[in-house]
Amino acid sequence: MFTLRPARETDRAALYRICLQTGASGEDATHLYADPLILGHVYAGPYLTHAPDFAFVLEEQVSGEVMGYVLGVPDTEAFEATLERAWWPPLRELYPDPAGIPREDRTLDQRIAGLIHHPPRAPQAVLSGYPAHLHIDLLPAAQGGGRGRALMTKLLDALRAAGVRGVHLGVGESNVRAQGFYRHLGFQELSRAPGSVTFGLTLNP
Ligand code: ACO
Repeated sequence: MFTLRPARETDRAALYRICLQTGASGEDATHLYADPLILGHVYAGPYLTHAPDFAFVLEEQVSGEVMGYVLGVPDTEAFEATLERAWWPPLRELYPDPAGIPREDRTLDQRIAGLIHHPPRAPQAVLSGYPAHLHIDLLPAAQGGGRGRALMTKLLDALRAAGVRGVHLGVGESNVRAQGFYRHLGFQELSRAPGSVTFGLTLNP
């Protein structure tokens, strides 16, 4: 049995762990990264710190273990500005900028460090219709039983209630399972770049 609830600060380690355990196009990335926290610093931690009202977790009732999360932000542009001011600076001290290393020679850790130093900005063409964005990850034992849909409903309801026009997300091109899930939930493909697909869903027309 699982319950959904708002995320709290004490969930931080679980969010980082789940982020790593689903970080290879939905599969376990634990063996791929030398630093077990680096993925969470980019894809989990900043959401819990800077958008806690849009962070929800799935908890296994008996063990109390957190088995999944959905993390969103209503205003991606404002969130990017907040991270530039308050989230990235200490991490840039910890992880060197790999700018001098050719992209093809970088380790996966160095590629993520590159995102910490040079975070990509969502394009205006996407933000105008879909200003919010999200990440969702469930551990394998929690997948496939309607819990991903339940988590998404929780977040989308919160975004809708906040008056957000639409939400976008980026998913790995090879993560066809998640792409099928998003399409099934009504998301439309907005654009495709090498390695990733962007989807959008209108919330308040
Ligand atoms: N194709 C078509 N329909 C699908 C697919 C698919 N590949 N996957 C699920 N569905 C449908 C289900 O049949 C179900 O339909 P129904 O509600 O109408 O009966 C509905 O989608 C909901 O499925 P759930 O069982 O809730 O899906 P699940 O719990 O597995 O959650 C998720 C999906 C989030 C992708 C989960 O499998 C997961 O966490 N995977 C690993 C991590 C991952 O890939 N995360 C996405 C990264 S990208 C990002 O965060 C933006």
